[in-house]
Amino acid sequence: MAQAHKLNLCSQGIALKALFSGYLIVVAIGYLMAVVQIQFTHGMADGEMGLSVDDIVYSYYGKRSGSALEAKLNGSMKLMAPEADRLKIINWVHKGADEQAFYDNGIRKIFDTNCVSCHNASSGLPIPDWTKFETIAKRAETDTGASFSSLARVSHIHLFGIAFIFMFVGLIFSLAAGVPKVLKSVVIVMPYIFLIIDISSWWLTKLNPNFAYLVIFGGGAMALSFAFMWIVSMYEMWIMPRLHHDSRDALLDE
Ligand code: HEC
Repeated sequence: MAQAHKLNLCSQGIALKALFSGYLIVVAIGYLMAVVQIQFTHGMADGEMGLSVDDIVYSYYGKRSGSALEAKLNGSMKLMAPEADRLKIINWVHKGADEQAFYDNGIRKIFDTNCVSCHNASSGLPIPDWTKFETIAKRAETDTGASFSSLARVSHIHLFGIAFIFMFVGLIFSLAAGVPKVLKSVVIVMPYIFLIIDISSWWLTKLNPNFAYLVIFGGGAMALSFAFMWIVSMYEMWIMPRLHHDSRDALLDE
């Protein structure tokens, strides 16, 4: 019976349960939004909806047969320009992205009309400034995937941000009473291990496309441990007390 006095999720007051649940729900929605966002950024890298190994290879290792500009124009930037103009840009890239042709063939105008509203220095978005020819020319070169500087930026944001999320999700889950201690510790530490695997494999994929599978494995396993902690915590807060309550009531009724 000493067990019952231990700090556990089941016996917390309604206020703390509301706090924990609110946090878990918001974080779960955030997770879903991240999955949606991945579809729009990396998911479209191969020109088709849905995240695939190819998408990850193209995003990190690059599509070594083409340019970043072309890849994006077939991906997430596909709808930004009318079809004819989009093909004109791609055609210009194929012909060597010549500066003279850039101005003479109206490519500058296509960029000005369709792209610079977002792609300018003062937009505040972390995206290239298309008002400068040099920036465009650079992206028209062979695509070698994510740059080391963008990898470093995205990596540190993910490490700090996700570690923070799993700190609280893990803290809540650590109060679950129905999970054996060893399993609990494993589940709590798993997201951190998979986060490191996931992010290291971005860098490794930049060097060798075969590591794309490791990106999917790391990300998937992290999501699984998140889902496990989420479901168990919610179950222990809201369903378990009712089950116990019902059986106690049933006993009292007898
Ligand atoms: C509505 C705003 C908007 C417009 C208009 C827009 N873009 Fe983008 N663009 C973005 C955002 C946001 C990103 C970053 C997310 C992504 O990569 O999908 C981006 C990323 C890109 C990238 C990848 C940048 C990199 O770091 O390598 C390229 C290339 C690109 N856009 C090309 C274009 C071209 C060409 C046009 C015009 C035909 C265009 N964009 C119009 C918002 C826009």
